[in-house]
Amino acid sequence: MNFTVLTLFPELIENAMNTSICKRAMEKGYISLDTIDIRDFAENKNGRVDDYTYGGGAGMLMQAGPVYSAYKEACRRLNKEKAYAVYMTPQGRVFDQRVAEELAQHEDLVIICGHYEGIDERALEEIGTDNISIGDYVLTGGEIASLAVMDCVSRLVPGVLGNETSASDESFSSEGLLEYPQYTRPEVWHDRKVPDVLLSGHHANIEKWRHEQSLIRTRERRPDLLKED
Ligand SMILES: C[S@@+](CC[C@H](N)C(=O)[O-])C[C@H]1O[C@@H](n2cnc3c(N)ncnc32)[C@H](O)[C@@H]1O
Repeated sequence: MNFTVLTLFPELIENAMNTSICKRAMEKGYISLDTIDIRDFAENKNGRVDDYTYGGGAGMLMQAGPVYSAYKEACRRLNKEKAYAVYMTPQGRVFDQRVAEELAQHEDLVIICGHYEGIDERALEEIGTDNISIGDYVLTGGEIASLAVMDCVSRLVPGVLGNETSASDESFSSEGLLEYPQYTRPEVWHDRKVPDVLLSGHHANIEKWRHEQSLIRTRERRPDLLKED
């Protein structure tokens, strides 16, 4: 999986991705990260990429030209005429594990981060973006949203999580339930003991207990996940 992020803050993206599991995944070649600074494509001498919105209203808008040029540069680096592009926007379809699974099927993802009031609509139309939101709230920029998407999609790339089963065993995976409670050493902590079944070594009973706990937890915390479509 090759991520290319178009942003005004490349260092924010690089610093965050260069930690923990994503860093190791990059070192081992399971994922790659390239950033393109949209400001490098400013169409004026002072490096501005934003301007007032037509029709009035508060705030500035990122201009179509620099965003489109940055996208073309991403395509050039990926050696493609057209690369699959995602625009992070509160107006997009809401990101969840299913969307992550869908995005993980792509070989390359170009992720566009807006700032200020967003991006001139014409650039987004010309690129033909998939529009993705990380929730019904408004952030100052798309960078944090893009990091959530990349972190989540990376975990689905084969090899990234050392143990291949761990992604399929988690909340929102195949059955769409929340994960069961988990415990590690010590066996007793603050007078709270690990459930006996987990110490029994009886795999079938452990599986049964975990499934029951997943159902209980989902019913308590996210009953909406149990509703039939
Ligand atoms: C202040 S927001 C612009 C909001 C826009 N004026 C609107 O009302 O829809 C600036 C940028 O942050 C990013 N952003 C903000 N909230 C987001 C969210 N919930 N999901 C994904 N990206 C978001 C987008 O890239 C957006 O272009």
